[in-house]
Amino acid sequence: TVGNSTNILWHECPVGKLERQNLLKQKGCVIWITGLSGSGKSTLACALSRELYSRGYLTYVLDGDNLRHGLNRDLGFKAEDRAENIRRVGELAKLFADAGVICIASLISPYRRDRDGCRALLPDSTFIEVFMNVPLEVCEARDPKGLYKLARAGKIKGFTGIDDPYEPPLDCEIIIEAKAGACPSPPAMAEQVISYLNKNG
Ligand code: PPS
Repeated sequence: TVGNSTNILWHECPVGKLERQNLLKQKGCVIWITGLSGSGKSTLACALSRELYSRGYLTYVLDGDNLRHGLNRDLGFKAEDRAENIRRVGELAKLFADAGVICIASLISPYRRDRDGCRALLPDSTFIEVFMNVPLEVCEARDPKGLYKLARAGKIKGFTGIDDPYEPPLDCEIIIEAKAGACPSPPAMAEQVISYLNKNG
């Protein structure tokens, strides 16, 4: 039995991950960026994608906001919905990594358990968790979409960091540090991740 179904079989395809990776001359992996709204997740994802592209690597960005326009359009922001959102994107990211692509997932993913669930889907060392360690005050001051303002006014309920939890990683691969008046530039953030990738093969 698989999930709610019975009589489900697994088919192996003769062309495997190694062949695809050889073709692309890169290793598939998942770079999972977590952090508050306005912490710079999408900015880092775009800068990283651009920089890796210019060095000849194939990436694909899975952005939480964007996926909620399609694949995850049926989900809201209750804890169960966020869990299902992260589960689906984790499975999707796993497929991209298996295709040989450097998959950059950028989602608030506020619950540790949900992120760890994604990690467990991937082979060792191919899930790289990046924590945008940006204080709420900084994210709120940036407020790029005006959502914090709405949340403070009670017009959005259950907004992460305001009246909904965010659990920072306890042990992740990369931490991007930013404080008021000391925020790294997008290329500097991308460079921090790329230097980790280089060091770890
Ligand atoms: S989650 O928690 O991982 O399922 O969220 P995610 O799929 O990344 O979507 C986050 C974006 O949705 C917008 N938004 C909210 N965020 C947090 N809490 C509430 N209640 C909410 N309602 C809407 C917001 O634009 C988030 O985008 P980012 O890029 O993080 O600012």
